[in-house]
Amino acid sequence: MRVRVPAKVNVQLAVGGLRPDGFHGLANIFLAVGLHDTVTASPSETDGVTLSASGPFARRVPLDGTNLAARAARLLAERHGLGEPRVRLHIAKDIPIAGGMAGGSADAAGALVACDALWGTGTPREELLEMCAELGSDVPFSLLGGAALGQGRGELLTPLVTGGAFHWVFAVADGGLSTPAVYRECDRLREEEGTGADVAAVPEPEPSAAVVEALASGDARALAAALTNDLQAAAVSLRPALADTLAAGTAAGALAGIVSGSGPTCAFLTGDAESATAVAEALVASGTCRAAYPATGPAPGATLLG
Ligand code: C5P
Repeated sequence: MRVRVPAKVNVQLAVGGLRPDGFHGLANIFLAVGLHDTVTASPSETDGVTLSASGPFARRVPLDGTNLAARAARLLAERHGLGEPRVRLHIAKDIPIAGGMAGGSADAAGALVACDALWGTGTPREELLEMCAELGSDVPFSLLGGAALGQGRGELLTPLVTGGAFHWVFAVADGGLSTPAVYRECDRLREEEGTGADVAAVPEPEPSAAVVEALASGDARALAAALTNDLQAAAVSLRPALADTLAAGTAAGALAGIVSGSGPTCAFLTGDAESATAVAEALVASGTCRAAYPATGPAPGATLLG
């Protein structure tokens, strides 16, 4: 069973204070984009989950039990009382690893849907979404796709309307950034500024009406003007070269550039498909990123191909 799953970009990422449980409250507007992983589940003779990976980032995919896709398969088996699963999972990987585009989350959502189809467990969507939330804050959105507001730690989703396709370019950096490390740096910068970093010190994050309206109208210029990411300063602080990538993309004609989620991938919004191609070429030529991929959003969530 093959399942196609999209990457995401955060068109708003407002980060609240550090909660006692170690997470941050968010107002997080996700847009799924047409850069995909494909997860294939097939029966195996061996006990447990056997993982393999292919594609440009395959080398860096962990192939042990810590992989979120393996954890997803084990969680589904456990929920249905199937014991230790015997399954082979292959991940065809086009989403950058540790890149701030929810690639690991996409693989987890893909593994859940693929194993559910392979095992005929017919899990209701609500239950799948609950399992996704247990696996990670971004996993429910990988299942849902489209555009959505994520609140809580990002897992409480409200679907949003989109009025058209947005043309993006994703500039992939050499190496990833650890999401917890970027959140920690965000807290450290807040402490350093003297504002404090915990829930009492940081205002409750609010969804941006400007972003919601721009998505609904399909207006790329309005969306470009409204993009915000509270983790951007932290990602740039940990990886100062990202400032050069952001400058190169806007100099090449992007409407706006932003760090994608916790980074280090940089996302550039452009006016149309032609400018996306031109911006991608200019970014690669600038030498400020390893590769640049045009992709449009919204894209559908995890889709069973059969
Ligand atoms: O939920 P997920 O496993 O993706 O989160 C990874 C880490 O990112 C968390 O352990 C936490 O350090 C950080 N995080 C956070 N606030 C969120 C989401 C993630 O601090 N809303």
